[in-house]
Amino acid sequence: MSYQTEYDRSMQDPEGFWRKQAEALAWFKFPQQILTSDAAGLGYWFSDGEMNTAYMALDHHVNNGRGDQLALIFDSPVTQTKSTHTYSELTDVVARTAGMLAGLGVVKGDRVIIYMPMIPEAVIAMLAVARLGAIHSVVFGGFAPPELALRIDDATPKVILSASCGIEIKRTVEYKPLLDRAIDLATHKPQSCVIYQRTQCTATMIAGRDHDWTSQLAKASPVGCTPVKGCDPLYILYTSGTTGKPKGVVRENGGHAVALKYSMKAIYNVEAGDVFWASSDVGWVVGHSYIVYGPLLQGCTTVVYEGKPIMTPDAGAFWRVCSEYGVKALFSAPTAFRAVKKEDPQALLIKQYDLSKLDTIFSAGERLDTPTEAWLSEMSGKPVIDHWWQTETGWAITANLQGIESLPVKPGSSTKPVPGFNVQILDEHGEQQPAGRQGYIALKLPLPPACLNRVWGDDDKFRESYLTFLPGYYTSGDGGYVDQDGYVFVMGRVDDVINVAGHRLSTGEIEEVIATHPDVAECAVIARDDELKGQTPMGLVVLKSAATIDEANLHRQLVSLIRDNIGPITCYKDTVVLARLPKTRSGKTLRKTLCNIVNGREYTVPSTIDDTGVIPEIIAVLRSKKIVA
Ligand code: COA
Ligand code: AMP
Repeated sequence: MSYQTEYDRSMQDPEGFWRKQAEALAWFKFPQQILTSDAAGLGYWFSDGEMNTAYMALDHHVNNGRGDQLALIFDSPVTQTKSTHTYSELTDVVARTAGMLAGLGVVKGDRVIIYMPMIPEAVIAMLAVARLGAIHSVVFGGFAPPELALRIDDATPKVILSASCGIEIKRTVEYKPLLDRAIDLATHKPQSCVIYQRTQCTATMIAGRDHDWTSQLAKASPVGCTPVKGCDPLYILYTSGTTGKPKGVVRENGGHAVALKYSMKAIYNVEAGDVFWASSDVGWVVGHSYIVYGPLLQGCTTVVYEGKPIMTPDAGAFWRVCSEYGVKALFSAPTAFRAVKKEDPQALLIKQYDLSKLDTIFSAGERLDTPTEAWLSEMSGKPVIDHWWQTETGWAITANLQGIESLPVKPGSSTKPVPGFNVQILDEHGEQQPAGRQGYIALKLPLPPACLNRVWGDDDKFRESYLTFLPGYYTSGDGGYVDQDGYVFVMGRVDDVINVAGHRLSTGEIEEVIATHPDVAECAVIARDDELKGQTPMGLVVLKSAATIDEANLHRQLVSLIRDNIGPITCYKDTVVLARLPKTRSGKTLRKTLCNIVNGREYTVPSTIDDTGVIPEIIAVLRSKKIVA
């Protein structure tokens, strides 16, 4: 089958196309309503189907003879631990963990927050919540208490699941004090917390609220799968927007299961029994889709890795895991590959491992730069496939579909639209742009299965963030172009979102934290290009007239403010004190101009600002600090 035939079918007859894909799953009641659209053109998929995602991902495989196959391999170089679960074992522990949660009062539709490191219990927790028809919201362990508190208040969970600690390269991160602080900060209080005590550190428990995971589980009985509708939410995953408050992307059970199952073969070319490894974290969408749900829905073996691409213990870590478990498809972020390249430029470590089972390396999370792509494909000898997606879509919007037709790779492009996605390049008036011309990347409604059609508890925010700017389209927030062969080139965000090591952050949120410093009058946060992490945030700060603090001291204090309020993953690296910021007549700071100046790119300045002399003044400061030449 050619890519074009497959894609055209998805456009010409979306209902027929997705009905056929839905048939590959074990529904309790097959949906009659495949697609229903509302007045705005939004699509709702498989709304009246009855199902349970955990059943499709676990019990179904056990019932069909896959019980003894490995479902999950846990590999933790930071704790020197390895363990496995077969499909039978995973189903059993998920059913008992669901029993534990039911014993704490969790029922269908309740929210459960999961704030955990990369251990099997994090995956078990997600599936257990899904088994009850409840809604999980996983919060990445690198987020600080105020971020967790925001999510607690928005999702109002009945129960929070956590662990005593996570293990980073240089330190043990105690999660429990962070969780306690977040609950103190939040207005909503969960009824219970269940804490998995790891041997590396023991959490102090609060009587009456906190429960020990292991002893609770020992007392719990297994429970069955609660049927849900296709349109019932499976999870809420918060992601950074342009404002300080993250958006809770709602993922519905039906469309999610259908799209992910389809993607496993179509995009990644893996079948049941294959080993699939996404070296991400369950706190991100990649972890949800391709550590947990996608591989298990397909009957694959998934790898849960608690380590880094380098330093645990070396830059051969990825190749060791691929070789040891016979990984067929590896999925990671460009930052991880850049880190490996920096440590092992000659790829001496790759050559130590047998990678004969590894077919393809997939990259997403940020733009795959051409030197990294060229290095990786040459050194590994494997096809390197870039694909573009977002938390909002839950799976790839553009890709090179390895299970349909492998198209020639064009460096810098994530290839072509995935079936179901009608990708258009538009200007601000909604006019379609010709081949080669950059514009806003927009997706014509309705979106295919799995994509969001609401933001938790905030319908207005959803419409305003994604649908209002270009009516009839979902605005992706990314800019780019399509070439004459239909290849899509994603060039970067057109809003105030930045991407640090594949982690999505809001500059507005960082600015809000910097503005709380008593000496700061105002600030602008921009993305500075970073060789390893793609981008890191830089704070351009104007001090209050009475302030006497020096820049180095200010920087140290801002680093700790940002770490305490957002989290260490922000990687806040630079503070520059300026006398003033360039502003338009209406008072808008010219962030884009500043960003271009800092990164040595061409920039334009409106004449009204040109006259004020502020830009040469800023350039002089940046030159004195050797930030620009
Ligand atoms: N819990 C607590 N803290 C965490 C964390 C977690 N789950 N993950 C990261 N952090 C902390 C780190 O310890 C580090 O803290 P430090 O400043 O005190 O050292 C900080 O957040 C930054 O972490 P990270 O971005 O991971 O940087 P690093 O220097 O530790 O490692 C790389 C560098 C390149 C190895 C790492 O960035 C990497 O693996 N990147 C790829 C990430 C990825 O896969 N992203 C795509 C997600 S889809
Ligand atoms: P997240 O929602 O955290 O997955 O981040 C999504 C954003 O990451 C996108 O809007 C893009 O800006 C960026 N992104 C993800 N994958 C790619 C890619 N393959 N190429 C370019 N940018 C990407």
